[in-house]
Amino acid sequence: MKERLGWLLQHLEDVPEGDDWLNADERRVAAALRFAKRRQDWRLGRWTAKRAVRAFLAIPGLSPDSLEIRAAADGAPEAFRDGVPLPVALSISHSGGCGLCAVAAAPVALGCDIERLEERGEALVRDYFTPGEIGFCLEATGEARTLRTNLVWSAKESVLKALRAGLRRDTRSVEVDPWSAADGERDGWNPWTGRCLQSGRLFSGWWRARRGCILTLSSDREGVPEEAGAGREGSWP
Ligand SMILES: CC(C)(COP(=O)(O)OP(=O)(O)OC[C@H]1O[C@@H](n2cnc3c(N)ncnc32)[C@H](O)[C@@H]1OP(=O)(O)O)[C@@H](O)C(=O)NCCC(=O)NCCS
Repeated sequence: MKERLGWLLQHLEDVPEGDDWLNADERRVAAALRFAKRRQDWRLGRWTAKRAVRAFLAIPGLSPDSLEIRAAADGAPEAFRDGVPLPVALSISHSGGCGLCAVAAAPVALGCDIERLEERGEALVRDYFTPGEIGFCLEATGEARTLRTNLVWSAKESVLKALRAGLRRDTRSVEVDPWSAADGERDGWNPWTGRCLQSGRLFSGWWRARRGCILTLSSDREGVPEEAGAGREGSWP
């Protein structure tokens, strides 16, 4: 059966100015972030994740400060309500003032990533991609190459987050096979698949372009992306 895979995109202007939607521990983490840009991104990620988790679990009357999005020792985000772990897996990404969160019922290996769609040099492709991915990107030119390169990069990051490793791992240890959908972009989510070359583990993936960015989701389950928090849960704070 296909699982629900919630996703939510938010922007800097959606994030409340004050900190009363953060719990006490989150406020301490925010206060310790010395660089304004990092603090801004972190807050955007927390806001996006809290809205996504609340909408996904459809918990009525849940206040934002009773939810905590805490980084585990490996850096991956985890959700708690009043200190008790919630039965969800989530993933966070932020780029260019946009925050993306993916959320699904635990246990699941889940990743997401958002990148600005911008030209990336051939050197990046040759250094960080597998031979198959290099062929896929470099056979295209112009905008198609830009799209393919960003898609592969973002999809890799998604899978590396689902593996809870991030860029600690060699990016070539994950292979993205986007051939099936790359030239057939339609409105909404397009499929791709990914594979961990160390373990053989397979990942389902989805991508879409939106507001000059590329968004990717990945999961080790069959899933259906579904926008979380599209207004059904009322307004916050
Ligand atoms: C995870 C990583 C690939 C993200 O790359 P990025 O393009 O710079 O940033 P993105 O905006 O796409 O994603 C950042 C989010 O990834 C998540 N993340 C961090 N480490 C993660 C991990 N090991 N697994 C899954 N997700 C992770 C976090 O939620 C983070 O946002 P936050 O810190 O604001 O909560 C990169 O930061 C990385 O490889 N880090 C190595 C692991 C690490 O050093 N973690 C830090 C604390 S131990």
